[in-house]
Amino acid sequence: MTASLTHRAYGTMPDGTPVQEFTLTQPGIEVKLLNYGGILTSIAVPDRDGNMRNVTLGFDTLEDYIAKSPYFGCITGRYANRIANGKFTLDGIEYTLAINNGPNALHGGIVGLDKRVWAAETDEANCAVRLTYLSPDGEEGYPGSVALTVTYTVSPGALRIDYTATTDKRTVINLTNHAYFNLAGNGAGSIENHHIMLNADRYTPIIDGGAIPTGELAPVAGTPFDFRTSKRIGADIRSSHPQMVYGRGYDHNWVLNREDDTSLVLAAQLHDPTSGRVMEVTTTEPGIQLYTGNFLDATRVGSSGGMYRQGDGLCLETQHFPDSPNQPHFPSTVLNPGDEYRSTTVFSFSVDQESA
Ligand code: GLA
Repeated sequence: MTASLTHRAYGTMPDGTPVQEFTLTQPGIEVKLLNYGGILTSIAVPDRDGNMRNVTLGFDTLEDYIAKSPYFGCITGRYANRIANGKFTLDGIEYTLAINNGPNALHGGIVGLDKRVWAAETDEANCAVRLTYLSPDGEEGYPGSVALTVTYTVSPGALRIDYTATTDKRTVINLTNHAYFNLAGNGAGSIENHHIMLNADRYTPIIDGGAIPTGELAPVAGTPFDFRTSKRIGADIRSSHPQMVYGRGYDHNWVLNREDDTSLVLAAQLHDPTSGRVMEVTTTEPGIQLYTGNFLDATRVGSSGGMYRQGDGLCLETQHFPDSPNQPHFPSTVLNPGDEYRSTTVFSFSVDQESA
């Protein structure tokens, strides 16, 4: 299998704008993505016997992505995760954002970056697709006209996502990808038997079911949040720990162990003992949200051909901490004119033993 990059017409937006699907292939991996929301529609990787299978949840049509997607595979922003009451203050000006999650702003608002058509450029030499979008001043309430690029690069066994942003006015920014993974395969059932390691001694507890952080960086030791040594996801998922009740399972931000602000560090390792597939997530970000698909409620038929139920996929959203614009002691998400926001996350796939 050699590297290749192809594309096809995927569908048409209600206003007639065409949407493309790009297929990036390298040894041991085939990635498909749209220029609508930067959505990863498929990531196919081999199991320990070499059988390729898509390990992300999704839909088969643009219409389904537009109508009912719970953020499958998309770029989320301008601010991934939540901002309390959809309000924050910069330089004495209070900004009010689009509210779309109880009283709070979630994943960039009602029409966030996940619902925009991005311009796409292909780079065959690097097996990469570069998406660009100019988010106008005031979009979803966010200040500044922000120029965004998201580059998906596929190399043997790995998908790398590089994000950049510049602004003409002081603003906040926090970008991630919201892919749902199931290493046994899309539609293979629950992820409870996957094992996960999270490289974090602390996490950010939430106030209540609204999932806004209390501001505390709490130790994971002795709690269901301790994944410092790889543990079965289902081991504590029915715990009566109040944080688990608030999240309906895992839907929290972990504070990654890192020595500096910029290098790529191992954030998570996910392992499915049945198929042997292993995924490692490395990132330049300070945090990662583990979300165990708690709101998948058997109301959507997906690209697996079947319904998605609670826990049928999990997200590993590399990010700055939720509600950072209102939590001065969290790492800053402020972007100044003249500066460039940069973020990188790599998803690397392997198997737990050599195939026979
Ligand atoms: C994020 C949030 C969850 C949920 C999903 C989308 O991961 O943290 O609470 O909103 O997105 O369903």
